[in-house]
Amino acid sequence: MVTSNTSESGATGDRRVPHAILVGLPGAGKSTVGRRVAKSLGRDFLDFDNEIVRREGKTIAAIFSELGESYFRKLEIGLTRSLKASSGMIVAPGGGWICQPGMPELLGGTGRTIYLRVTPEAVFHRLRRISERPLLAAGDPLEKLRELYSARRDKYEKADYVVDAETLSKEELITEVARIAAAF
Ligand code: S3P
Repeated sequence: MVTSNTSESGATGDRRVPHAILVGLPGAGKSTVGRRVAKSLGRDFLDFDNEIVRREGKTIAAIFSELGESYFRKLEIGLTRSLKASSGMIVAPGGGWICQPGMPELLGGTGRTIYLRVTPEAVFHRLRRISERPLLAAGDPLEKLRELYSARRDKYEKADYVVDAETLSKEELITEVARIAAAF
């Protein structure tokens, strides 16, 4: 199922194609789906966490523990600003990106958001590499996912497009997201 929160559609003339920004809980499939969608559409893919790790030369967990979450959030804002210089990419920021003040407005119309909607319970069963996710690594990860979901849900639901990532298979989800992004 896909819900659209925007009335804009279709491509016109030589205008810049917006970035497709995938949002949702950690483990919702943003990176996996984003990479596959980019490949299928022949677009560039940008994974914020990977880019931050590359630039900082540290894991996300090390950045959080050594430099703090607020430092990490500033890096996310910097990457968001840099998106204005390009167009048409498939972008996977971390699950907390959209909750920062001023997001997604900072995109300034250069991106459209697609929410991969999954419940904390479903994500928990799929989740791998919990130790690399600093917000989930301490304490009970399912409880933490539930907290993040209840704090972020309203923001996620305001995305331009909402895709039910829980009932669709991975391949169906990739096809659906590619269909949405191709029509920008
Ligand atoms: C975060 C999610 C992580 C990563 C960081 C913070 C969050 O990315 O950006 O640990 O606030 O939800 P994923 O959503 O890819 O796990």
